[in-house]
Amino acid sequence: MLILGIETSCDETAAAVVEDGKLVLSNIVSSQVALHAPYGGIVPEVAARNHVENIIPIIQKSLDNAGITLNEVDAIAVTKGPGLITSLLVGVDTAKSIAFAAGIKIIGINHLQAHVYAGQLAKNIDVESIDFKFPLIYLIASGGHTELVLMENYYTFKLIGSTRDDAAGEAFDKIAKLLELTYPGGPIISKRSDFGNSKAYTFARPMINEGYEFSFSGLKTDVLRLIKKKTGELSQQNINDICASFQAAVVDVLVAKTIRAAKNFNAEMIVIGGGVSANKLLRKTIDKKVKSELKNIKLIMPEMEYCTDNAAMIAAAGCYHAKAGIFDSWESIIVDPNLNIPPYEKL
Ligand code: KG4
Ligand code: ZN
Repeated sequence: MLILGIETSCDETAAAVVEDGKLVLSNIVSSQVALHAPYGGIVPEVAARNHVENIIPIIQKSLDNAGITLNEVDAIAVTKGPGLITSLLVGVDTAKSIAFAAGIKIIGINHLQAHVYAGQLAKNIDVESIDFKFPLIYLIASGGHTELVLMENYYTFKLIGSTRDDAAGEAFDKIAKLLELTYPGGPIISKRSDFGNSKAYTFARPMINEGYEFSFSGLKTDVLRLIKKKTGELSQQNINDICASFQAAVVDVLVAKTIRAAKNFNAEMIVIGGGVSANKLLRKTIDKKVKSELKNIKLIMPEMEYCTDNAAMIAAAGCYHAKAGIFDSWESIIVDPNLNIPPYEKL
């Protein structure tokens, strides 16, 4: 089954072709990071206009790189939410137009569900792709979301915890802004942390021992207070130490809650996803914890290019919908910027 995936929920214009939900034939991502960098965050109107300019060439490139034509595609999977409404509309309206004009089936995808499918993606058939085992706990940590989700099978997703305020990636971005580092904050904070002492400052680890909800705004205030207290300019070493100490605090919280959820829900598998899951310290820490405390659980950490937003994961999600006969029609598909995952009712 060949699915064309389209993703425009935020600031990446992306299209991909995936075979049978796992084999990536092409994965094209046009990032707008440089466009938004001067503003220290995403400007929705700029993002939408850029999607309009890029979407058709990106789709064409994804077909060309996969070596197929549009009429070989079994279905188009497109992100219908959550995200920025003006950005989502570009992807969905383009997908609708192609579906209508070419007579191809269309499937609207929940971006939050799609991140987990990144864990099954492989670039060539020699790479043994991993089948999910359930119950499965997955952590999405990105610029817009921090969510712990329980998957009972390929089709049942339940939210067990999310952030009360800032998302983990948003916290990285805001701290980078406070320290006058480049946008997005995650990669630069990770780099600067390599040269810093993570024990130099003790920042809050909000709610680390309770429940599955997250809160990162207190941590941001902690860092701000420290910066204000230091008179004069921060030295480069001060900045590196703040980055390392902050990164350690975020990682500790993310890992502790994910491990606790896996234990309490008797998970067979843990998957991490979203931009923050590209973080080296997070990957190392969770891997070590799983090996020492959850020996029978398999941990999946997607390749870096599938951690951040991409359309291959949207196509993979689409494949599981198609296998279950779940399709939309171009008339019925509706963009929902606030789409979420239903809560786990027994918490
Ligand atoms: O999933 P993503 O590409 O887009 C959405 O937000 O949906 O995630 C982007 C976020 C940004 O906040 C960025 O700072 C963060 O992921 N990020 C990282 C790293 N790479 C990207 N955070 C920590 N460490 C990284 N290496
Ligand atoms: Zn995302």
